[in-house]
Amino acid sequence: MAKLKIKSGVKKIAVIVVVLGLFLSIGLYSYIKIKNQKEYEKTYDYKLSQMGYTEEDIKIIKDKFKDKEIAYILDNEKNELYINLAQEKYFIYDKFYDYLDYQKEEQDKPLREIVERINTNTNKEYYTDATPTDISKKELMLVNKYNYLDASYTPETLVSVGMDYAYGELGSQKVTEDTYNAFLNMWRASHEAGFYLMVNSSYRTHEKQESVYNEYKKLGTEYADSIAARPGYSEHQTGYSLDIFEKGTSSSNFHETDSYKWLLENAHKYGFILRYPEDKVDITGYKFESWHFRYVGVEAATYIHENNITFDEYYAYYVK
Ligand code: DAL
Ligand code: ZN
Repeated sequence: MAKLKIKSGVKKIAVIVVVLGLFLSIGLYSYIKIKNQKEYEKTYDYKLSQMGYTEEDIKIIKDKFKDKEIAYILDNEKNELYINLAQEKYFIYDKFYDYLDYQKEEQDKPLREIVERINTNTNKEYYTDATPTDISKKELMLVNKYNYLDASYTPETLVSVGMDYAYGELGSQKVTEDTYNAFLNMWRASHEAGFYLMVNSSYRTHEKQESVYNEYKKLGTEYADSIAARPGYSEHQTGYSLDIFEKGTSSSNFHETDSYKWLLENAHKYGFILRYPEDKVDITGYKFESWHFRYVGVEAATYIHENNITFDEYYAYYVK
């Protein structure tokens, strides 16, 4: 009898323990679930999906933006513009707000152009917010209507272009040593192809550029600005630029020569780019110059050539 009582007592306790255990487990499970849910609700995935962004959109947002921009996206209504901008090839995340401001002003412009303009500053008037060129970039330094060189800037390794390849007196045409070596390689290859390239203009001092610009300025500032750089704003002062012509041709018909066509197809292999192409006037700010080649090194030149972009765009995205 007493044994039986003890047995049923143990049973009762066991049942109570099991039931209690079950309640505790359910409680714990629910607690963890709620906690996890609360944690999840704090994530960008949850917040963005609640706004209607798809999984794919969220992946792009998290990939292309940092916390500050994501906070902005969360603070505003759902807008596909953010996703489309981020997917632009040359999108730079810290220019995000500039893209948005500019897009508001220029709603009809394709996003590719919005990005291109902001990256190159060309949404602003030329010479607006001009800053000193970062000369530490060497052959990748950018000199244009927004980036200038000091009057005192002189390239470190200027060498004279040999008289076989240059107009003017000996020593009057100079370029940096790396530009010259690349030019000689290009010259030989072009010569084998049947051409004879001549350097017409190369390194120019600040003072020389001033006199070049002032000559054109006599015919009007707008005209001068479309074909010559203001002193300090010419990449001829870098020692990396060359004006090249086929022996015996002049600037006005160079673009019609086979020599020019050869350069167009081959210059990048030696590190040179056509700096002011016909279809990029809005970005470079200069009329087409079929003769002006700039040394930027083979890697940059090849990329610029293959992707049909300007050095200004390349610099914004890959150098700066
Ligand atoms: N003609 C080019 C733009 C220069 O003056 O540098
Ligand atoms: Zn030039």
